[in-house]
Amino acid sequence: MKQEDFPMLRQEYIYFDNGATTLKPQCVIDKIKDYYENYSANAHRGDYDFSYKVDQAYENAREIVRNFIHAKKREEIVFTSGTTQSLNMIAFGFFAPLLEPGDEVLITQSEHASNVLPWFILEQKKGIVVKYISLDEDHYVTLENVKKSITPKTKVISIAGVTNVIGDARPMKEITEFAHENNIFVVCDGAQMVPHVPVDVEYLDIDFLAFSGHKMCGPTGVGVLFGKSELLEAMEPQNYGGGMNESFDSASEVELKELPTRLEGGTPNIAGVIGLGEAILYLEKIGMKKIHEVEQELRTYAIEKMMHIPHLDILDLESDSGIISFNVDGIFSQDVAYYLNKYKVCVRAGNHCAKILKNEVGVTNSLRMSFYFYNTKEEIDTVIDLLRDKERIVREML
Ligand SMILES: Cc1ncc(COP(=O)(O)O)c(C=O)c1O
Repeated sequence: MKQEDFPMLRQEYIYFDNGATTLKPQCVIDKIKDYYENYSANAHRGDYDFSYKVDQAYENAREIVRNFIHAKKREEIVFTSGTTQSLNMIAFGFFAPLLEPGDEVLITQSEHASNVLPWFILEQKKGIVVKYISLDEDHYVTLENVKKSITPKTKVISIAGVTNVIGDARPMKEITEFAHENNIFVVCDGAQMVPHVPVDVEYLDIDFLAFSGHKMCGPTGVGVLFGKSELLEAMEPQNYGGGMNESFDSASEVELKELPTRLEGGTPNIAGVIGLGEAILYLEKIGMKKIHEVEQELRTYAIEKMMHIPHLDILDLESDSGIISFNVDGIFSQDVAYYLNKYKVCVRAGNHCAKILKNEVGVTNSLRMSFYFYNTKEEIDTVIDLLRDKERIVREML
């Protein structure tokens, strides 16, 4: 499906590392090139035609994002450099001034570093307490376990919508319903969710959502922070400087701009934002439901074959995404990745930035294949054939 749109695929690599970053279709590359070649001015600053064109393209991308995640207002869409920056802004710009010592933030052991470390810093600097929602035997979050984890001090639940190693989808709607009944904020790390399934922030009633452009056919260095407007109003900017202020004087009087510009200090990644808008239009043409279906089909197809290979230990037999994490029994995951690389196969090996997940799954490192809609069953056949013979892996891996 759509392989011809991706110039990287002409090199005949098998690219199964879409959880890390996805390939870019030609239309996104062209859109970025067009900005740099034909109207490469700054945004929101100039009084000439090129600059107006940039403003239009930039704000048009904001509207595309708003529509894509079904946010109510354009002010609720803030462009950032990616999920990591969005999550840091949420923790330090909104929660740091709000939380009191002893307040509890609930996360899980399968979170990515970007949704763990900012909370650890608030723990060290503000005396908040980070707690973990227990996972069930398949490493899933259940509403039952969320209910068991909260106390009168719980103020925030911050979890990935879909995790990046196990690939499980969290019941976000049920969690937000329950959380809001108990005056708890819900932050969703959408890095592995927004690129793969339809997302409706209004329906899900998420307070904050973070995601990255590069994991959804867009450029690197651009991402989104969605927040309910009344919450973003209270968020302290993390970048003070040009573009985000209305006025300031020598008596240190500062007036900031309205949302969302107030939270986008400095020259933004204009080409990135415009490219992200184009990537979303491209995904929408295929359809997010369809994308999810294709990934599920690829995953089921791969799992059914992998299950019958005794030396493959699969971490996540059941999961809701195009992610499969596994190990070849007795062989270090990185060595298997090197072996596959000899055959032009790109997979990820390691801990996938989820360094405390080992407490749950009992293994520190794994191989991860993460599919996107342009992957094929033929590619899966090729990779599984390469994994079938353990002796061969041992022989050829170094
Ligand atoms: C679940 C999850 N959260 C956060 C991130 C961080 O994203 P970025 O590096 O684009 O900021 C990733 C990236 O792999 C991820 O998978």
